[in-house]
Amino acid sequence: MEHIKLKNETPDAAEALTGGIAHDFNTLLAKIKDRASLMMRRVKSSDPLYRDIKEIIRCIDKGSEMANLLLCFAKMNEYYTSSIDINRLVKNALENLDIKGRKIVLDVDLDPKALIVEADPDKINQVLMSIIENALHAMPKGGKLSIVTESAVILNGTAAAYGLNTGFFVKISIIDTGIGMEKEVLESIFKPFYSAAHGRLSEKKGLGLTFAREIVENHNGVIDVWSSPNTGTSFSIILPLKETTEDLAILAGDEKQGLWMESVLLVDDDEKILTSGRKFCNSLGYSVITAASGKKALNIYKKKKDRISLVILDMIMPEMNGLDTFLELKKINPDIKVLLSTGYSIDEKAQEMLRQGCKGYLLKPYNAIELLHKLREILFL
Ligand SMILES: Nc1ncnc2c1ncn2[C@@H]1O[C@H](COP(=O)(O)OP(=O)(O)OP(=O)(O)O)[C@@H](O)[C@H]1O
Ligand SMILES: [Mg+2]
Repeated sequence: MEHIKLKNETPDAAEALTGGIAHDFNTLLAKIKDRASLMMRRVKSSDPLYRDIKEIIRCIDKGSEMANLLLCFAKMNEYYTSSIDINRLVKNALENLDIKGRKIVLDVDLDPKALIVEADPDKINQVLMSIIENALHAMPKGGKLSIVTESAVILNGTAAAYGLNTGFFVKISIIDTGIGMEKEVLESIFKPFYSAAHGRLSEKKGLGLTFAREIVENHNGVIDVWSSPNTGTSFSIILPLKETTEDLAILAGDEKQGLWMESVLLVDDDEKILTSGRKFCNSLGYSVITAASGKKALNIYKKKKDRISLVILDMIMPEMNGLDTFLELKKINPDIKVLLSTGYSIDEKAQEMLRQGCKGYLLKPYNAIELLHKLREILFL
């Protein structure tokens, strides 16, 4: 887990004020979301309240996106990275896309392999949404939006042209059949406050691509653009691939044998997460002990700490949340290895956990490859 503050520039007074307010606003939203998420779990999906709570959470996310833009502007945004499958991020972004009633044909072609990058999922989501929003905006009368993910080897010449090192990369292409851009527009799109929509649409700030490029560059990647007037535009987000999936074959049978002595303690109040987590850990050669609450986890850990190599801990749980459980576990073993498992952004509580020595986080619902990367980092290195 890396918690990197990539921007070293000191903000000026206006930036510091903006950043300070955005930060407090985000904290407030996180608290509301915490409560709303707990409420949602107590309500059946058939209950009319369920839809209302879901809408509240969607609005909170939108507010949080806006606050993050301000943090970007104030150069105060921090990056919380983990091993993330790009395909999953793209699927998530598409689920939240609202194209109902518009003549948009969606064509999605995702690489069948998991494409793992070391990235901050919130930030990459922001990049995807900015580019997709622009593409939709460029097709007012409708058109085709294609989204393709693939792995790519980038060799000397191309790498030099992009300013990248040679190696394996993930390429996410977002292609529209919209109005396209003239050369002069294309040369300006990444400039702050450049927007062809200025004046016509007051909510357009001309900042989407400025921040998108900053975020991608902070992940050691690049954005490549091709466009032709009246034909369309193609944006490619290119990010370093963590390891090729070939290197990551799930452990062979005899390699697993030795590991079964080691256990992972999985703590989550959601039965489904416990079931899938157990399956993944078993497939990687670890035996699993599950606990449905923080209190139960503490009791189990006290008794079996010598056998437990790692604890995977949910953040939002009734009674005792992830942070409180983590702090109690640390009293039993100050060197305990804990991975936070969270379905949300890295909020104040999660940041506190990482500061206090939590080894990283997994974004729920994680897959076996994402888990394998994290286990390797924490247990084998
Ligand atoms: N897919 C596209 N097709 C045509 N033009 C585009 C496309 N993507 C970006 N542009 C042009 O680039 C400009 C800058 O994009 P950017 O996302 O930075 O700002 P914006 O969309 O105008 O405002 P904001 O993103 O802040 O709401 C756009 O105003 C538009 O002229
Ligand atoms: Mg935009």
